[in-house]
Amino acid sequence: MYKKDFPFFKNTNTVYLDNAATTQKPNVVIDKIVEYYTHFCANTHRSNFGDANKATKEFENTRNILKDFINAKDAKQIIFTKGITESLNLIASTYAKKFKTVIISSLEHHSNITPWHMQGRTLNDGLEVVNIKDNLEFDFEHFEELLKVNPNSLVSVTHVSNAFGTKHDIKKIAKLTHKYNSYIMIDAAQSLAHFKVDVQDLDVDFYAMSGHKTYGPTGVGALYIKEELLKELPVYQTGGATINDVNYERSIMLDSPYKFEAGTQNIAGVIGFSQALNYLNNIGIEKVFEIEDELYKYLNSKLEKIPGIILYNNVSNSIASKSFNIENINCEDIGILLDKMHIAVRAGHHCAQPIMKKLNIDGTIRASIAFYNTKDDIDKFIKGLKKAITMLKD
Ligand SMILES: Cc1ncc(COP(=O)(O)O)c(C=O)c1O
Repeated sequence: MYKKDFPFFKNTNTVYLDNAATTQKPNVVIDKIVEYYTHFCANTHRSNFGDANKATKEFENTRNILKDFINAKDAKQIIFTKGITESLNLIASTYAKKFKTVIISSLEHHSNITPWHMQGRTLNDGLEVVNIKDNLEFDFEHFEELLKVNPNSLVSVTHVSNAFGTKHDIKKIAKLTHKYNSYIMIDAAQSLAHFKVDVQDLDVDFYAMSGHKTYGPTGVGALYIKEELLKELPVYQTGGATINDVNYERSIMLDSPYKFEAGTQNIAGVIGFSQALNYLNNIGIEKVFEIEDELYKYLNSKLEKIPGIILYNNVSNSIASKSFNIENINCEDIGILLDKMHIAVRAGHHCAQPIMKKLNIDGTIRASIAFYNTKDDIDKFIKGLKKAITMLKD
């Protein structure tokens, strides 16, 4: 029913189950980008003529829509970035430096691991990793032990694992974090498009978001910053548009959000992102969750019946992405055969090598759903998977 809104599906018969890597873009997003470049292409926050004012207004409109989308108090708490990777690196290379210890979970994407290594942090020397329990669940006892030994830390965890779909209880993690005088940053790559996020209710300090995982353009993302931290947070890059007053002796920065947005921004991307959020708002994020939940349960029920399947977690603690292996078959071989059948999934380590190593596997096959998928997509995937298994077993 929703595929008609996405031009990708008009031009292909591919069963697209790689939504955790990037989502397809609805017409409204593409049309808005074309409209910007065709009708009011101008730089923002600089010139004062008609099209420039319109571009600035539309750019700021996205900030307001995103503010409401995550229930931030004020639009100035939203700063635009290239995506999650840049949002996490921004904090890693500025605010995080004041913390002796950074605590991450076992289920992090490389973009929440490598920035800490680049700072010279290594395991048990500036970087701590919370264990996972069976079923890939967050080990709260271990987390509290780490916080007791390392109060005043920065905790940086993903809301939902991209590799396994495991959902972390962020409210509970944030509460414990603050109890030990620490701060918390969340990677929202796999959450924002799937269920209602309320940053005030979660009580997080930083929330890193990605446009392209949320039906918006690539190369655009955002970072939510708790109000009390806006003044304290040092600037990351500076230059045009961040400045209140400059002479050769010193530069005086503007207030947030502008002091964090140096240089010409991805204007088309940010403006296009507003339409992705409007589109989701029109459907209702609760409805999106409901559709995906039903599809996810259906997918799980079909996968569970496949002989030789190895599952790593179950439907009760995960959403949207399902990872698995088939006994004695290389996951990448299955991915290649599925591709030949026009079924797009991801096979490999999903930019999460440490957890794969912990589980002693090279990777998994990951089918990740979006609300535009259908039971028919899942049936085709299961049929293709069974065929691939038969071919590889013989
Ligand atoms: C959990 C997670 N974190 C971070 C990223 C990187 O996000 P971005 O592409 O917005 O930099 C991804 C992308 O796959 C992801 O899944």
